[in-house]
Amino acid sequence: MFELMNEQLTAIGVIPVIVINNASDALPLGKALSAAGMKCAEVTFRTDAAEETIRILSENYPDLIVGAGTVFTTEQVDTAVNAGARFIDSPIIDTELIDYCISKNIPVYPGVATPSEAAAAVKRGLKILKFFPAEQNGGLAAINAMSAVFKDLRFFPMGGIDKYIMRDYLASPLVAAVGGSWMVKASLIDAGKFDKIEKLAREAVYSASDVRGKLS
Ligand code: 3PG
Repeated sequence: MFELMNEQLTAIGVIPVIVINNASDALPLGKALSAAGMKCAEVTFRTDAAEETIRILSENYPDLIVGAGTVFTTEQVDTAVNAGARFIDSPIIDTELIDYCISKNIPVYPGVATPSEAAAAVKRGLKILKFFPAEQNGGLAAINAMSAVFKDLRFFPMGGIDKYIMRDYLASPLVAAVGGSWMVKASLIDAGKFDKIEKLAREAVYSASDVRGKLS
């Protein structure tokens, strides 16, 4: 299910997870990410600025695949998609949320940390699940163990990942893409340090293609 988005996000390999307090920072943030060669951005519904940020990024940076993260409700799905979000990421398994996205053909990546949670999503035909919080739940070893019983399932590990650990994850065929806030920390955005964000994002883009390039 959602083959095209699955392929696109897998090809990109790294997803910046954004917590943004002021939508007025969205334009310079998008500029920094685009300049860094980043092709995707997830804006989390953890702040009131999320909806407007999704709209600004989608309208001004058409090459950026903008998704919504920390989505808990179907109302947030509608808000996000109306603002331009092209995929939905959630930290939890909520079958109502998943079924709603499937019924509207909106790519959804719900979060799992256990086999029982994964089963609920796999049953609905999902091929890639968010693994959250990844580092705190056993990291790559847990993904490897889980995949023994879920053939063909791949993961977006998110939570506790940094520029070093991302390389280990991306070297695994079980990992579609990694996500994290390390390159777009709210403190950097709030401080207007977009040069720093661009540098960190560029490193992440380079790292993803470096690891994946060596594998292909
Ligand atoms: C997420 O929503 O995926 C995570 O909060 C990102 O985790 P991080 O802030 O530890 O990178």
